Amino acid sequence: MDNFNFYSPTQFIFGSEREKEAGKYTKRFGGTRVLIHYGSGSVIKSGLLDRVKKSLSEAGVWFTELGGVVPNPRSGLVYSGVELCKRENIDFILAVGGGSVIDSAKAIALGAVYEGDFWDFYCGKRIEKALPVATILTLTAAGSEGSMGTVITHENGMLKRAANHDVLRPAFSILNPELTCSLPPFQTACGAIDMMAHVMERYFTNTKNVEISDRLAEGIMLTIINEAPKAMTDPNDYDARANLMWAGMVAHNDTCGVGRESDWSSHQMEHELSGLYDVAHGAGLAVMFPAWMKYVMHHDLMRFAQFAVRVWGCEMDFQNSEKTALQGIQRYEQFATSIGMPIRFAELGAKAEDIPLLVKTLGLGEQTMGSFVKLTSDDVRKIYELAV
Ligand code: NZQ
Ligand code: ZN
Repeated sequence: MDNFNFYSPTQFIFGSEREKEAGKYTKRFGGTRVLIHYGSGSVIKSGLLDRVKKSLSEAGVWFTELGGVVPNPRSGLVYSGVELCKRENIDFILAVGGGSVIDSAKAIALGAVYEGDFWDFYCGKRIEKALPVATILTLTAAGSEGSMGTVITHENGMLKRAANHDVLRPAFSILNPELTCSLPPFQTACGAIDMMAHVMERYFTNTKNVEISDRLAEGIMLTIINEAPKAMTDPNDYDARANLMWAGMVAHNDTCGVGRESDWSSHQMEHELSGLYDVAHGAGLAVMFPAWMKYVMHHDLMRFAQFAVRVWGCEMDFQNSEKTALQGIQRYEQFATSIGMPIRFAELGAKAEDIPLLVKTLGLGEQTMGSFVKLTSDDVRKIYELAV
């Protein structure tokens, strides 16, 4: 296992009706002038936004609001949010929604304490500070409620890029599984695939002797595989929603990624798909992950065989580990299909003729990406082709 530092300061406030405590916790974490940030209407329709405002008012916390975040959140609204924060001397941002809302809030938090363009941080500028962000999560998927990441799409070129730093970890996150019961099956399935991907990007590693994080990762994956179909069959199954909600958090706050190399190539390739076609992130991952696995599995057949045996219950063929490894990938594809996810370009609405453009906007040039297997632009092209 490698040396590591792990800093995960977020307070999690988990369970039924806990959003009623939003005001109390905002005050406790120092929020006095708050921006409530939300999406395109689900939190208005459900009444959640009104409940949150009531809670802030009762706690005597001043607030203003900015809605309108869209999936694959855009730079335009971030610029408006940054300007609003500076004008109104905002000192705390409360994101109410899914990963896109939280990521947009994190971007505003970066821009609000910076004189330049917030996008600089998505082009590699070192992050030093941000306004505190807290979340009330309504969609189990991205893990942004506990992660150090934010992903934004710049309208100029539709470039989808990430920024990461510990200062972006939320001060607190309210996780009420009931808030996710209104999710349609498609979003529930996208979430399951995204959570699986967050674990799998960490699972396929070159670091040896990482039994604790391997076993944690396998436990999270098994939970998602068991609970997602239950939540899709009965959207009001509280326990299935609760297990998924916590799985989504531990899948991406790095609990199972510390002390080992991880490899985010599938996510990077997916970001080009959702940047170009505006598809749901989880659906894009369901297409890219099996293609990446098929391309790299010979690098370490035994790790893929372990995935097949421990996660998918396949029988180990000691004479032919390639066969076992492939079975694991097939079982992943069967799972994705069984919950209604696409696994090929055409099902996603992506086109083979756009592959050169996808490779170009990913922008590797002469460099490589990934760590399990270092990929060149040519490898990336071949992986996209495998997904067709
Ligand atoms: O905008 P509203 O009206 O709220 O509707 C949303 C949206 O249309 C809807 N929704 C959310 N909660 C709901 C609900 N509908 C009914 N009932 C509810 N309770 O769901 C739609 C999708 O929401 P979105 O926030 O876009 O989904 P998700 O949470 O999957 O976030 C995806 C984004 O997160 C990024 C992705 O790239 C993508 O842009 N990621 C962020 C990461 C991070 N910050 O650490 C890591 C991830 O790998 C990921 O890349
Ligand atoms: Zn993801």
